[in-house]
Amino acid sequence: MRFIVDQQVEDIEMPENLKLNTFLQEFHSDCTHPECRFGFYGFAFGQSPFPVPRLIQEALIQNVNKGEYAAVPGIPQLRNAISKYNKHYFGIDVAPERIYVGPGTKELIFNLLEILHGTVILPTPAWLGYLPQIRFLKKNFHMLSSRANGKIAPNDLKRLALRLQDRQKILILNNPHNPTGMLYNKSELEEIADVCRELNITVISDEIYAQTTYDFSKFVSMGKIYPEGTFVTNGLSKSHAAGGYRLGYVIFPQHAVDLKAQFKKILATEYTAVSTPIQHAAVAGFEISHEMDEYFKVTRNIHKIMGEYTYNTLTAIDGIKATKPEATFYLLADFNAYAPELQKAKITTSQKLSEALIVHPYHTAIVGGDSLVLERTDFSARIAYVDYDGAKVFDAYQQQTPKTHSERTEFVQNNAPKIVAGLMMLEKFFGVLKRDAVDELMLLKNNLKIPN
Ligand SMILES: Cc1ncc(COP(=O)(O)O)c(C=O)c1O
Repeated sequence: MRFIVDQQVEDIEMPENLKLNTFLQEFHSDCTHPECRFGFYGFAFGQSPFPVPRLIQEALIQNVNKGEYAAVPGIPQLRNAISKYNKHYFGIDVAPERIYVGPGTKELIFNLLEILHGTVILPTPAWLGYLPQIRFLKKNFHMLSSRANGKIAPNDLKRLALRLQDRQKILILNNPHNPTGMLYNKSELEEIADVCRELNITVISDEIYAQTTYDFSKFVSMGKIYPEGTFVTNGLSKSHAAGGYRLGYVIFPQHAVDLKAQFKKILATEYTAVSTPIQHAAVAGFEISHEMDEYFKVTRNIHKIMGEYTYNTLTAIDGIKATKPEATFYLLADFNAYAPELQKAKITTSQKLSEALIVHPYHTAIVGGDSLVLERTDFSARIAYVDYDGAKVFDAYQQQTPKTHSERTEFVQNNAPKIVAGLMMLEKFFGVLKRDAVDELMLLKNNLKIPN
């Protein structure tokens, strides 16, 4: 029996996260060196390493018997809890009726792109999840290259939007930002909102990393700045280390009554509702409690410590630049200063750089620039700093909270040896690259008898 796949599916590329998985497995199983057995230094996967909070686990156990279908937008207890959570942490007043629960924000962003007419504006670099969805839905889209720090420049947004003929434009804003770890401040968001109001741009504000903001008082939601035009998405995946629970939510803009009915129709058509026990478990994660508050504080502080170490170590390597993260568990490293040496070593694309780093003797997994919607020849990479035992590190932090710079360095050295070793591998790789290039140059000079 031969099956014919629908052309629409044939036409889309494998999403980058799946490609990445396959790539790491293939390269890894091809490696016959004994050192490959330990695995690799994992800077590639963006997953919180911490245990699912105890309150959520217990609520899930208590609700395993809930076998009934839930209401399409989510169970009322959960929508209430999310409403209070948003008020408490993000200062947004949002009635539970404006909240829709779905199986992860990825799905909800897809659903929003399904119902919203218009050209999509995708700032780059970007999380690897958006582009395959946009392509799958055959939507018109334009990239908007953001400044070196990953932030949208309002004037660039305006210039681009003025060129677009559509009555409505959809901006995908990701704040805090994957892959750079940067955070927009209030006035930057206000400037973007001004452009959006003027040119009828709807915003999908992906705020999945909001709770990881290191100095939490600095986080501002676009839902507060541009409430009439913003869809805010967030969920359990990053802040509650529960990506596998598949639970996210979207806050609809104020006064979007007609749209809500359309959205409900789509959700009911595609997945009916999120698993009922998972929704009950999520209530415990969004209800305000001392335990959850402590969990957020500890985990964001650990991300900060790991981020600071990773940033300092990387930028101490000759020629390497990086974004200084203010949130998330990523930064964007820029290896472009090594472009001549990389090209000499026949590493001509960011994909080839990822391949060169994963093999022996480096065993280091990164996400190369083309997976982040950058040029294939851009030697930038996302570095995720989460390769450690989250449960152990959480306890270690609570037992002895590092206070000074040297205590924090020691904390990383004691608790995240794979991050430390992986960064040393990157240093070694670029060191060898430079030395080889110099040796080669010397050889060339000697052969050609060029005087020094
Ligand atoms: C920026 C960004 N948005 C959305 C997601 C997906 O979140 P969810 O697990 O809620 O689908 C991720 C996960 O990596 C992400 O990095």
